[in-house]
Amino acid sequence: MNPRILVVSSANMDLVMRTERVPDGGETLTGTSYRYVPGGKGANAAVTVSRLAGDCVFCTRLGDDDNGRRLMSIYKENNIDTRFIGIDRNNPTGLAVIAVEEDSGQNRIIVYPGANNCIDSYDLDRAFCCYPDALFIQLEIPQETVIEAVAIANKRNIPVFMDAGPAKFDFPLEKLGPLEVFSPNETETLAYTDILPVGDESCLKACMKLLKRVKARYIVLKLGDRGCYVYDGTYRSLYQSHQVKAVDTTAAGDAFTAALTLEYLRCSEKNRIKRACEFGNIIGALTVSREGAMPSIPTVSEVKDFIAKREIRFDL
Ligand code: RIB
Repeated sequence: MNPRILVVSSANMDLVMRTERVPDGGETLTGTSYRYVPGGKGANAAVTVSRLAGDCVFCTRLGDDDNGRRLMSIYKENNIDTRFIGIDRNNPTGLAVIAVEEDSGQNRIIVYPGANNCIDSYDLDRAFCCYPDALFIQLEIPQETVIEAVAIANKRNIPVFMDAGPAKFDFPLEKLGPLEVFSPNETETLAYTDILPVGDESCLKACMKLLKRVKARYIVLKLGDRGCYVYDGTYRSLYQSHQVKAVDTTAAGDAFTAALTLEYLRCSEKNRIKRACEFGNIIGALTVSREGAMPSIPTVSEVKDFIAKREIRFDL
């Protein structure tokens, strides 16, 4: 089965500047390069699903501007179903300013949401007409829209996969209906639990605390170059990442969770979370090893090459 995934989330143009290090308060530094790159957590996830041969329907809003038009044509080139992307005449396309450190590939991001902040019930009503097999959602859009989208999916028995980024300290997780997977990174885990997941004990404590706040079948903590940690309320496992030189970590988390979602839906019940995490780790490793948000997301043939070169035991 090729699952149809409805991604309800954000779209941005990213202004990416590479720099030796990020500036201190009041300091001015000279960057080493800059470029405009398509990004946005939702768009990164949508492109991941599509490049990995999933059927992706993207629900977002773009401004009526050059960035919006450029992004729309990129989504079409990537075979994304764009019928439920709204054009907002009153707000610009979302913009992210991203500083990437040369050595570590670590980023710092500031987002101006623009049209993303207007995604609402109207967009949801239209988008759910596509009969999705799953809802994929993140928190870079209005909180009421996230809660409503989960409620609609729950009512129609559509499984929900939530990438918990960006960290929203005050997001009322308790108001969310049941989720299949809830996946925060380290910063988001700290924001929602006050626990930084550094070792097995803190990961487990954080997962237990999260399960008191969200009704999720699986918590999947994204631990960067350590891999991911899964907890289902009884069993826990760590799936190690593939070691690569990190060039730019932007979009790695979005791509990880989107790939996990796709593989989870493609697998039968037995071992599916294991396979989904292993697939997510492969996609995450490829994404951090290349520059930019969307441009760094791999295609199926690039994934096959990586698996073959690294002699990874994973049948695609
Ligand atoms: O997760 C990475 C993304 O976060 C960037 O592409 C940027 O647009 C922000 O939304």
